[in-house]
Parts: sequence; C-alpha cells; structure tokens
Amino acid sequence: MNDRRSVGMKARESGMPEASYWETFFNPSCILERLGCSGPCGDVVEFGCGYGTFTNAAAQLIAGRVYAMDIEPAMVVATTRKASEAGLANIFAEERDFVASGCGRPDGSVGYALLFNILHIENPVGLLREARRVLAPGGTVGIIHWRTDIPTPRGPSPDIRPTSEQCRSWGEAAGLEFVRYEPLCCCSWHWGLVMKRP
Ligand SMILES: C[S@@+](CC[C@H](N)C(=O)[O-])C[C@H]1O[C@@H](n2cnc3c(N)ncnc32)[C@H](O)[C@@H]1O
Repeated sequence: MNDRRSVGMKARESGMPEASYWETFFNPSCILERLGCSGPCGDVVEFGCGYGTFTNAAAQLIAGRVYAMDIEPAMVVATTRKASEAGLANIFAEERDFVASGCGRPDGSVGYALLFNILHIENPVGLLREARRVLAPGGTVGIIHWRTDIPTPRGPSPDIRPTSEQCRSWGEAAGLEFVRYEPLCCCSWHWGLVMKRP
C-alpha cells in the first residue's frame, strides 16, 4: 500500500504490499531476539514502523516503551490497532516524517533503535546520525534489510538495495561502532547487523 496523499520526505521505494503478504516474510520475535532487542535494553525507537510487524513483538520482548513512527497515516492506524488488539500499553505510535523532523525523542533517551527495511533511503547516514543522537551511550542499533546475493520476493531495486557492509560503513560515518553481523536463521530473505553508540 502506498498512500499517495502522504507528503514530506518519504523514503524512495518504501511502499508496502498487503500486510498479510508482508508478514509472511518474517519471524519478528526471533529476529528481534537475535539482534538483542529484548529484556532490559531500555526504550526502543522504531523508524518507519509500517504495519507494526516488529512493533508488537518488540513491546512484548522488552521492559520499556516502544516509540514507533511512520509517515503514512494508514501505517500508524494499523500499528495502533494491532497494539490495542494485543492489549499492549507500552507502544506509542505517531505519524511523523523522521527525515524532515527527526524522531522527536530527546538526545540519549533510548536504549535501542530499529532500522528495519529502511536504509535504502536517500540519505542513510543522516538517518543513522538521528539514531545515534537519540541513543544513550552504549545503546544499540538493529538493522535488517533484503539480501542482495539471492533473488527475493520483494525489496528495493538492486541499484539502491544496500549490503550489510555498506550499512556498516554508513553507520561508522554516523559515529556508530560495529558490533556484529547477525545471520538471521529464522528469516530466508534478510541479513542482520548490530551497531552501537560508543
Ligand atoms: C519498507 S517499509 C518497512 C516497515 C517496517 N520497518 C517493517 O520492516 O515491517 C518502510 C516504512 O517506512 C515508512 N517511511 C518512509 N519514509 C519515511 C519517513 N520519512 N518518515 C517516517 N516513515 C517513513 C514507510 O511509510 C513504510 O511504512
């Protein structure tokens, strides 16, 4: 779904197919746990939450709050509805353009930032800088994206689809430290990367 009424600086090629199709690609809890987004990791900020595919799972795995945002009103509605159906009171979803206005949270205020399927954006280093800003020292960034080494059923065009190595280098340019590449055994189509704020 790609609501053409949305304005602002929506990332290129970030429209979504139907939720029921999109959600066949992921095992959200497994991915989040493998990337260390669980337990006492502090509050979480999620850039471009889409249907809330990972939002609910994160809210169930962590002790803190999940601040989720999306530029598309329909995505925020879907995420909020999903949270309410699951009875999760620690999800705060808002309509927001993080390119134009950042994520809206104070400096150093969260323990984890989720950048899932979004770093094909026009200015990935700018987005990673915003993630660094909002993280407390020692805080973590979890990144996943579509693999480039095999054909995949969805994902951005090959010319803008980043590899994990490219994302690592953009993260380092934004002042983050490499932690590890994370093989996602529970996911056929994606790679994982963990970085942290020094
Ligand atoms: C490919 S989807 C991924 C959604 C979710 N992260 C996931 O992996 O299921 C990218 C999402 O980012 C949102 N998005 C794109 N540009 C944005 C911006 N500038 N500000 C906020 N959200 C944005 C899109 O509306 C879309 O829902």
